[in-house]
Amino acid sequence: MNVFGYGSLIWRPDFPFAGRYWARLDGWERRFWQGSPDHRGTPEAPGRVVTLVPGEAVWGVVFELPADTAETTMARLDVREQGGYELVERQVHAEHGPVVARTFVATPDNPEWLGPDTVTAMAAHIARSHGPSGANREYLLRLADALEQAGVLDAHTRGLAAAVRRLP
Ligand code: SIN
Repeated sequence: MNVFGYGSLIWRPDFPFAGRYWARLDGWERRFWQGSPDHRGTPEAPGRVVTLVPGEAVWGVVFELPADTAETTMARLDVREQGGYELVERQVHAEHGPVVARTFVATPDNPEWLGPDTVTAMAAHIARSHGPSGANREYLLRLADALEQAGVLDAHTRGLAAAVRRLP
């Protein structure tokens, strides 16, 4: 079983995996449009985390789950991603060819959905948000760093990271 991660799963995969490689999912783009009441914010002051919205393409990481721990990992991920995310199956493109993977997507009809805002407003929102998993700023900057290290161009994430870094 494969899992495609495009957010925190890229830099914090807290589960066993047998393989890990970058892959492209066509037809979707990464956006900080999902509210986080449980990880990078609170129910009263949700943080901003990523989801996928229709667009050109998004790069993420495929994790190959070992057969003996796959079910347990999926059950744990269901809990980790419970704040508005749904599990879907998609075909992604890796260097060695197409791969089917499961991924968690939060759609606009979920109760935590925040949607778009200006870069300035989203950066300020992220800079002030904190939750049980830590600072929202850390979530953004670690994701931006992981994408940059992999040579992935993501103007949305990069623009937000630059705006947050400019804040006092
Ligand atoms: C993901 O990483 O693939 C889902 C969103 C997140 O947990 O940040």
